[in-house]
Amino acid sequence: MGRVEGKVAFITGAARGQGRSHAIRLAEEGADIIALDVCEDTPGAPYAGATEEDLAETVRQVEALDRRIVAEKADVRNFDQVKAVVDKGVAELGRLDIVSANAGISTAMAHSEDLSEEIWNDMIDVNLSGVWRTCKAAIPHIKAGGNGGSIVITSSDAGLFAYENISHYVSAKHGVVGLMRTLALELAPDMIRVNSIHPTTVNTPMVTNEATYKLFRPDLENPTVEDFKQAAVVMNALPIPWVEPVDISNAVLFFASEEARYITGVPLPVDAGAAVK
Ligand SMILES: NC(=O)c1ccc[n+]([C@@H]2O[C@H](COP(=O)([O-])OP(=O)(O)OC[C@H]3O[C@@H](n4cnc5c(N)ncnc54)[C@H](O)[C@@H]3O)[C@@H](O)[C@H]2O)c1
Repeated sequence: MGRVEGKVAFITGAARGQGRSHAIRLAEEGADIIALDVCEDTPGAPYAGATEEDLAETVRQVEALDRRIVAEKADVRNFDQVKAVVDKGVAELGRLDIVSANAGISTAMAHSEDLSEEIWNDMIDVNLSGVWRTCKAAIPHIKAGGNGGSIVITSSDAGLFAYENISHYVSAKHGVVGLMRTLALELAPDMIRVNSIHPTTVNTPMVTNEATYKLFRPDLENPTVEDFKQAAVVMNALPIPWVEPVDISNAVLFFASEEARYITGVPLPVDAGAAVK
């Protein structure tokens, strides 16, 4: 028996990076998957967006594990789109037990007074309101199942403490902690648990790009991945520059499994000790 055998998990931002890894890890442990991703470039993001081919690759990898998957292009900025995907997924797969609200963006980096209103609003729309829309669309289905469930929100170490130049990201990632705690209370009577995960740097396209190298190494004209690595190591207590997507997936799986059946309202760092440094 897998650790989430017979369950259905809804994952946003599932075309690549952590979202794809969560889909595969949960499928390995027996879950069927409902996946969405915007599959577009994010305005203001200094890195290329995921593509429909990326989402198709997630589908291929889940199906290779003999699990079912319903995957659609949809935008967490649009409630109707999110709801349509969840409704379709539940109609095809029969139930909903687990949510991974993972979709997120990283955009322009500047002191707060220099961020444009557009950049600010887009960040809040995706990284905070998008998580709320994801939960809003999913909760009625989990409740209807009557079996309880697990909602896991991907925040960040930037949801626990501050970083200069990304106040929009820090604010959104702190905001989802408030949402997580409130949902944990609201949904406890239905045995639906709600927790958040706070990764340090994760090895995904969100950070493996020149803008991020520059943020970490403002002292260098053209920083390389090696230069980035040196700066990233310093953030963590364990002597590693970053964690891999599967390290976050294993935490999602734990929260989703029966092993965490009485754990709710918890912000869990998966951060190589960055939070205690
Ligand atoms: N990579 C890191 O260092 C790091 C650290 C801490 C937290 N996080 C968080 O982890 C989560 C996953 O990021 P990742 O590292 O896998 O990066 P990623 O860019 O590889 O993946 C993010 C996914 O979200 C999708 N997405 C973006 N906007 C969307 C929208 N409006 N609607 C639907 N899908 C959308 C993207 O297309 C992409 O597939 C994000 O919430 C991010 O903020 C990342």
